[in-house]
Amino acid sequence: MEAVLLVGGQGTRLRPLTLTTPKPMLPVANHPCTAHQIAKLKSVGVTRVILSTSYKAEVFKEYFGHGEKMGIEIEYVTETSPLGTGGAIRNVAESLRSAADEPIIILNGDILTGHDLRKQIAFHQQHNADVTLHLRTVEDPRAFGLVPTDDQHRVTAFIEKPTTDAEIVTHQINAGCYIFTRRVIDEIPADRVVSVERETFPALLRDNRNVCGYVENNYWLDLGTPLAFAQGSRDMVQGRCTTSLVSASSEALIENTAEVNPTAVVTGGSAIGADVVVGPDALVEGSVIMSGAVIHAGCTIRNSIVGVAAIINTGSRLEGAVVADLVTLAAGTNLVTGEQVFPDGSISRSN
Ligand code: GDD
Ligand code: MG
Repeated sequence: MEAVLLVGGQGTRLRPLTLTTPKPMLPVANHPCTAHQIAKLKSVGVTRVILSTSYKAEVFKEYFGHGEKMGIEIEYVTETSPLGTGGAIRNVAESLRSAADEPIIILNGDILTGHDLRKQIAFHQQHNADVTLHLRTVEDPRAFGLVPTDDQHRVTAFIEKPTTDAEIVTHQINAGCYIFTRRVIDEIPADRVVSVERETFPALLRDNRNVCGYVENNYWLDLGTPLAFAQGSRDMVQGRCTTSLVSASSEALIENTAEVNPTAVVTGGSAIGADVVVGPDALVEGSVIMSGAVIHAGCTIRNSIVGVAAIINTGSRLEGAVVADLVTLAAGTNLVTGEQVFPDGSISRSN
């Protein structure tokens, strides 16, 4: 079975982290989100994964090669300019080997999902669907695609990112994992920008094609914002979401090459990357500390993300903050929720 990962987006909401690393390659429990997705695909019998890349394509290639490390065949299809989600799906058609009536798994590259992919595929086949979307309910659906279904599990509309209250007809959303019958991919217009959400799905519905919704409400998270990304990493460290890459749940995942002072406390699902140093009396709680970062004595880092090789000097306090790769923070710096330190040292606010 073949699968396609859509990993070409710019990850704008995760700047400054995505200035250097594309969003799907950011470390979730010390492994790129893409690696977790590939591990999940492998566990359901996928043998060939196509990475649909655009922004910073080389980062994926350097990490995954042809899949030697993951034990699966990995191929790349790279857009010279971004083709959008539908255009990206169409663009991989020439690289697919499956027959016209076979199912192809397509995943947004920034989701952690505990749903049963085998069941979704079986559902797709039982319903003889053209496309089957994984759907779930969320409290606030405004940041997602809204997908109402009828009592036959058929999708009746697709409303991407509603802008008015009247458009919020359901709290059931597109969870970003699709099964496409291969021939439907070949029908998407080639060589131009296409949004699968705003163009392809509505067109299939207009043409009365069999678009089905597979509803499952297990663990699911879109890692599109810094706080969501930190949450996803915590969830995986603490075992709320699992893949074969993280063997046991714990309060802290610390790479072997990291050096944590015995008087420091690392807890709350924190992930400490390779070669990180955590100094005396520091507290790291629910945070992601990327490889090579240094947390000096007496710092408190909560629900925050510290980028690759960043240096956080003595007594600093970060709560819900993001520090870009290679930044050095002065001793006693105080950052609060939503504050993001860019490579040039400037601070912006989000969330
Ligand atoms: N190759 C390629 N080319 N990939 C792209 C492009 C492109 O031009 N644009 C976006 N992507 C990839 C992104 O890298 C990401 O993995 C995925 O497509 C989805 O893009 P996001 O930017 O994360 O979209 P979103 O989170 O706002 O909304 C999407 O996901 C929601 C679920 O998480 C939509 O599919 C919503 O309908 C859905 O509810
Ligand atoms: Mg997203």
